[in-house]
Amino acid sequence: MINYINKLPKAELHLHIEGTLEPELLFALAERNNIKLKYDSVEQLKLAYQFDCLQDFLDIYYQGASVLITEQDFYDLTYSYLQKCAEQNIRHTEIMFDPQTHTERGIAFSTVINGISKACIDAKEKLNVSSLLIMSYLRHLSEEDAFKTLEQSLPFKHLITAVGLDSSEKGNPPSKFKNVFEASVKEGYIPLAHAGEEGPPEYIWEALDVLKIKRIDHGNNCLQDQLLIDEIIKRDMALTVCPLSNTALQVVGDLTNHPLKKMMELGLKVTLNSDDPAYFGGQLNQNFIEVQKALNLTKEDLFELAKNSFQYSLLSDNEKQTNL
Ligand code: HPA
Ligand code: ZN
Repeated sequence: MINYINKLPKAELHLHIEGTLEPELLFALAERNNIKLKYDSVEQLKLAYQFDCLQDFLDIYYQGASVLITEQDFYDLTYSYLQKCAEQNIRHTEIMFDPQTHTERGIAFSTVINGISKACIDAKEKLNVSSLLIMSYLRHLSEEDAFKTLEQSLPFKHLITAVGLDSSEKGNPPSKFKNVFEASVKEGYIPLAHAGEEGPPEYIWEALDVLKIKRIDHGNNCLQDQLLIDEIIKRDMALTVCPLSNTALQVVGDLTNHPLKKMMELGLKVTLNSDDPAYFGGQLNQNFIEVQKALNLTKEDLFELAKNSFQYSLLSDNEKQTNL
């Protein structure tokens, strides 16, 4: 099975580039940029990676991202992830980045986007891994702040395919971002959002009906609402599911209780993803391996998950065909 998973061509559709920052690179960048960390060693830092909920994780994730200063840092971070894609036979990836995590600390939008996109261009040429970028708004900040980010992105519009919505879900419903999503769509960005990771089914309804999203990040809590399940199936929308993230953030108790198989049996279209692999204990193939074992998935199930990852990607129909 492990061999089958490793060889399976895959796309990854739910991945935060800041969440790929491995402790070793985090320490190296801190040293390069003369930043003093709260932790004395990689081992000590890893001990802090124990989370009770999404917010616990986000507090550490934003701290980690503070070692990213120069364009080269963003390049190194991104290229290192894309090398891991090549090793796992991930042929295509849709990378989320959180500009506000960096612009809030005085890093220019151009530094972030140039570093990330140059790595993507090099990886296409040298590793044959293709990528698209998703600019994610931080939902714990105001809509006005998101509007500023939209404005800053416009000179780089040709490099960005979609907008997303991430960070603290509870208390920050999708409707808070109605206007900025409308404006983003007018600029040509495809709307996506995290919904129903910790938030209720109502947040997924809002993401569908108010933000008019084309794909649901996580979406686990749709299972509490049969009408919502029916609607997601009717609209032929995919859920980007992240099993190791779900257990690390206690969204799901353990993998044997993960709803992935149930989702597939209900007719929902799902893809597997690593979310923030440096923090949640595994890259995409590790997610496949562990969930296969826990839920006794067949090769046909795994093939369907991999096929969905291309089918529900943001690639053009022609580009999809070359992978399917
Ligand atoms: N959920 C919400 N926001 C995030 C996550 C996540 O899993 N990872 C990085 N930002
Ligand atoms: Zn996520």
